[in-house]
Amino acid sequence: MSPQQKALLLSKKHGDFELGSRSIPSPGTGEVLVKVQSVALNPVDYKIRETGYFVTDYPAVLGVDIAGVVEELGEGVENFRKAIECKITLFFGLAHGNFTNDFGAFQHYTLTDAHFTAKIPPSQSFDSAATVPLGLDTALVGLYGNHFGAGLTPPWTTNVVESKTPIAILGGSSSVGSYAIQLARLSGFYPIIATASPSNEELVKDYGATHFFDRNLSGKQLKAAINKITDSPIGIIYDAISLPETQSVAWELLADNGILVLTLPASVKEDEGRGRKTISTFGGPHAPQNEELCTSSWAVVEKWLSEGAIQPNKYEVLPNGLEGIIGGLERLKSGQVSGTKLVAHPQETQ
Ligand SMILES: NC(=O)c1ccc[n+]([C@@H]2O[C@H](COP(=O)([O-])OP(=O)(O)OC[C@H]3O[C@@H](n4cnc5c(N)ncnc54)[C@H](OP(=O)(O)O)[C@@H]3O)[C@@H](O)[C@H]2O)c1
Repeated sequence: MSPQQKALLLSKKHGDFELGSRSIPSPGTGEVLVKVQSVALNPVDYKIRETGYFVTDYPAVLGVDIAGVVEELGEGVENFRKAIECKITLFFGLAHGNFTNDFGAFQHYTLTDAHFTAKIPPSQSFDSAATVPLGLDTALVGLYGNHFGAGLTPPWTTNVVESKTPIAILGGSSSVGSYAIQLARLSGFYPIIATASPSNEELVKDYGATHFFDRNLSGKQLKAAINKITDSPIGIIYDAISLPETQSVAWELLADNGILVLTLPASVKEDEGRGRKTISTFGGPHAPQNEELCTSSWAVVEKWLSEGAIQPNKYEVLPNGLEGIIGGLERLKSGQVSGTKLVAHPQETQ
């Protein structure tokens, strides 16, 4: 029998999470086996349970934000092979997981795609690194993706000149919003206007927002406030929250021919004659439409993290290993988490 490991399993469609065991997978070509030290929780994890989207194979292992120790490399993965095989050094990696059981985060060992796995620099912990993958990829695809995004030029492929082009990011204290702010800074946008609760003003400015506004302002109030800081039309808005209320604020602000990037389906209607567009993004790097962009961005993730160009999210560690994820997802679902990523340690499961 192949070696077994503990995993948090979603028993069936719309079922309950329960602790179980399953075999440790072996890495195939282009894959990496990671001993999972830290995982971060995302809204998609409880939404999959509610909707049944993305997953077909039950019991299912969920979770896409992974940080851990690289244990084994499949064929064709040459990075760090010598170091690992000679046990010269441990290779710590962060990775974007996928919606199939061998590639899920909520277990002791998982496979990752080498293209979407990066080395964790010494300045970062497993916990901080785990807060990066989905939030960063979703912000990045929304801004730079040609299919699921606004198709802007990625700043890591060109010399960026600071411009007088404004951008607005709604929900700047959310994980996706925080990375959208940081990428907007790398892209040279100015001003970078962000909304959140007033208690998160410092956090959002620390990510790089140049102007902060209370998320409770109406579209009209926000527009009037923004008019005082820039004459330029707001041609691009990233609504990281994308609830009907934030979308209608964004629509009030968006200039003619502008683009509104959404993390959920559109609830505003695209308008005839003004040329404004909505794009619902999809942050999965494994999607064929995102593969090339995300392969190129994951190649610079280690550098971004070590230089501080991208700062991970603040986090809170949950108790009780994999089982702690269940309560964490309830807190996320009921909107009790603000400006923070919840992180769990699978190896601490009793
Ligand atoms: N399409 C995709 O591929 C994709 C990928 C990832 C996420 N998503 C979706 O994107 C959304 C955000 O995900 P996330 O992981 O970034 O969430 P998150 O970090 O859990 O979001 C929590 C934050 O949301 C903020 N917030 C809630 N309601 C708000 C509002 N009305 N206006 C402004 N801010 C508000 C809160 O801000 P304050 O506490 O400051 O008020 C809180 O800090 C979720 O719906 C998620 O499912 C989609």
